[in-house]
Amino acid sequence: MRQLKAIILAAGEGSRMKSKKPKVLHEILNKSMVDYVIETAKGCGAEEVCVVVGHKAEEVKAGIRAEGISFALQAEQKGTGHAVMMAGDFIDESSDMLILYGDTPLITGETLTKLVEVHRTEGHSVTVVSSKIEDPTGYGRIMRDDHGGFERIVEHKDATDTQRMINEINTGIYIFNGRELKESLGKLNNNNAQGEYYLTDCLELILKAGGKVEAVVAKDADEFFGVNSRVQLAEAAKIMKHRINRKHMESGVTLVDPENTYIGSDVKIGMDTVILPGCVLEGNTEIGEDCEIGPNSRLTDTKLGNGVKFQTSTAIESEIGNETTVGPFAYIRPNCHIGNRVKVGDFVEVKNSTIGDGTKIGANVVIGGWTTIGKRCEIYPNASIGLEPQDLKFKGEKSYCNIGDETVIREFVTISRATGEGEETRV
Ligand code: UD1
Ligand code: MG
Repeated sequence: MRQLKAIILAAGEGSRMKSKKPKVLHEILNKSMVDYVIETAKGCGAEEVCVVVGHKAEEVKAGIRAEGISFALQAEQKGTGHAVMMAGDFIDESSDMLILYGDTPLITGETLTKLVEVHRTEGHSVTVVSSKIEDPTGYGRIMRDDHGGFERIVEHKDATDTQRMINEINTGIYIFNGRELKESLGKLNNNNAQGEYYLTDCLELILKAGGKVEAVVAKDADEFFGVNSRVQLAEAAKIMKHRINRKHMESGVTLVDPENTYIGSDVKIGMDTVILPGCVLEGNTEIGEDCEIGPNSRLTDTKLGNGVKFQTSTAIESEIGNETTVGPFAYIRPNCHIGNRVKVGDFVEVKNSTIGDGTKIGANVVIGGWTTIGKRCEIYPNASIGLEPQDLKFKGEKSYCNIGDETVIREFVTISRATGEGEETRV
């Protein structure tokens, strides 16, 4: 089978975002728009992905989280055709080339997979996705002949008033035969209203050279929604949120108020877990079965076991065991390993620490340093453990605090004596 490679255009400035940050790095549910597009391209079978960068190129390259991506530089933005020319070395004559924009994060893998299938079974030189929309202002229009066959794409700025009446538009998603794409790029010119090299002109050039070009009308216009402003970013986020939330509800998770629940696309949630309103679940967070999360909680890159109650609290890059209860108002900072059936009370802060099974931590306790607390301990309210606030000598060093199993810390105490790793702090 022919190889599929993807080029993602992301060199434009995106001035309407009014932002210091490049447009394609703006995030929807904690993931950049361009990262969504890269994942989708890979998901539909693209073996290699090249992102064309230009405006703030280094920042875009550094901001992309996906791995194994190659980049092409378009130093000056002279149009979409010019952008693809800059990725010339990446275009493989014997491959199919998928071309996508970095600012259309809602495109799905299923749609692209179908597109690749049509392109291949029908033996097209180019397959472009079109869409019929109410207000086509600004888009390129699809011109068809009397028999409905594809003729060419006319950009809005170059279109006559009659052409502007056409409501079938170019979504900007294409699959090209690599060889024909290369040949047509060589023939492009910039004789148009914008003085740009239009990728859309390649389609007409390929048709004239005897190729088979087809515009496939997409059903779900949402998928091709391009983000140009913060208002559109919010609209796209709403659609994405709806999709993700629906998927979880369909697989057995209760979202009490889906409109007010924000779940990242990589988050996993077990059956019969209930998410109360106002939760933000992001990154590689994994939640087990029968948990109750929220209201108003944030979990970032955190793993929860089964039957956890996590109430009005925050946890970052940590692990929390089965049937543990957290909060309200607890703050679990990075690198905590909290065991099974632990009780983390209200206003507790824990950082870089391990807490054994069955331990109870009362209100207002602060646990820091590299503290290990054993199993079935009882820490009464207001204790400070593993901290070295007054002892500057430990500044920047790890201070270990190791509390054995079944220790009871009854009164208000500050345990700040640092010991060696593995040594036990006596109380
Ligand atoms: C393009 C299409 C238009 C289509 C519309 C769909 C062309 C000529 N027109 O128009 O038919 O209806 O998309 O949204 O292709 N980019 C670069 N380098 C450049 C110019 C653009 O990388 O020199 C990137 C942008 O960052 C963006 C994408 O290409 O991700 C599209 O560019 P944009 O200027 O938005 O094209 P449109 O005018 O919207
Ligand atoms: Mg655009």
